[in-house]
Amino acid sequence: LFASVQLAPKDPIFGLTEAYVADQRADKVNLGVGVYYTDEGKVPLLKAVIKAEESIVAKRSPRGYIPIEGPNPYNSAVQNLLFGAESELIKAGRVVTAECLGGTGALRVGADFIKRLNLNAPCAISNPTWENHRGIFESAGFEVLEYAYFDGETRGVNFDGMVKSLESFPQFTTVLLHACCHNPTGADITEAQWHQVIAICKEKQLIPFLDMAYQGFADGIEQDGIAVRLFADSGMSFFVSSSFSKSFSLYGERVGALSIVTQSKDECTRVLSQLKRVIRTNYSNPPTHGAAIVAAVLNSPELRQLWEDELAQMRDRIKAMRQGLVQKLVAAGVKQDFAFIEKQRGMFSYSGLTAEQVERLQKEDGIYALSTGRICVAALNTHNIDKAAVAIARVLV
Ligand code: LMR
Repeated sequence: LFASVQLAPKDPIFGLTEAYVADQRADKVNLGVGVYYTDEGKVPLLKAVIKAEESIVAKRSPRGYIPIEGPNPYNSAVQNLLFGAESELIKAGRVVTAECLGGTGALRVGADFIKRLNLNAPCAISNPTWENHRGIFESAGFEVLEYAYFDGETRGVNFDGMVKSLESFPQFTTVLLHACCHNPTGADITEAQWHQVIAICKEKQLIPFLDMAYQGFADGIEQDGIAVRLFADSGMSFFVSSSFSKSFSLYGERVGALSIVTQSKDECTRVLSQLKRVIRTNYSNPPTHGAAIVAAVLNSPELRQLWEDELAQMRDRIKAMRQGLVQKLVAAGVKQDFAFIEKQRGMFSYSGLTAEQVERLQKEDGIYALSTGRICVAALNTHNIDKAAVAIARVLV
């Protein structure tokens, strides 16, 4: 039966984690996977999460099925976070939200839903993008195109190229956009550029799909929501996948959501009915625990404040590591200008390291990074940053 099954390549991100785990060196460093670690190198368990969890566990609630689209207190909290508590769209009942299995689950449910609309149009992802985007949309049956995004010279966004690409796509192309903290480059477009992107999406009748996995990691909850808010003001129908893996440090709970902005309450009802079919035939209905934690935090003013403070601490620590790395690379004798690392936003830096340099880091120093040169700055800390800077300086020459 399985005689002709080929060995699949390892996942470029989790496959690297497997190699890191197997590495016996005590001072190894994993700058591969996008996970935030504390200065002690631990995945944090947020105080807001602990408090919410304690009250949930104390209730000893039975574990019945929850609705196919997830619980309402969670879904409405997600909507408030994404669109703002005063959102006209929410008031008009034009947004459908369903709890999904992390941001990845939300992308897949969204992709499957769009496929069922029978639009016979491709999906377009940024070049480069998160390794899994292509696979998710191809698995859902899409032809996947790329739009220009990163400029290797300026290490910023090639916005002219992006505009040209977007304008070239056929009607109903699903355009996957990173709402903030672009993964892998850390280079985001400006508010003025978002206005231009929205105008093109409208004119060309493209389907915007915003991937929002890092809200709060660049400038703050509200500030990082700007792209979603601008699309909300545009009058267009669009999709948002969002995730609490990073912002709540709830990676293993797989807690995310898919939100779809429709044109009316009636459209919303019909869209939700079809979305429920997509979910029911995939995993039936979502798990209880992670969403209960997030809902308990977001719906309590006291816990929400605590969470926002903790999120700000994570954000500030990443910024300090960006600054530290730039300084330490200079101190280690690096002549190239790495100041761009401080300008990039979110967890990642597209460092410019080549695949060969990355391989040397892994082999010679036990420092793991993606072969594309993406490093997770959120995994640097005051104990490993010197080692990382010295090793990077060495492989650069
Ligand atoms: C990453 O980009 O490393 C993270 O989003 C983890 C993942 O699922 O790939």
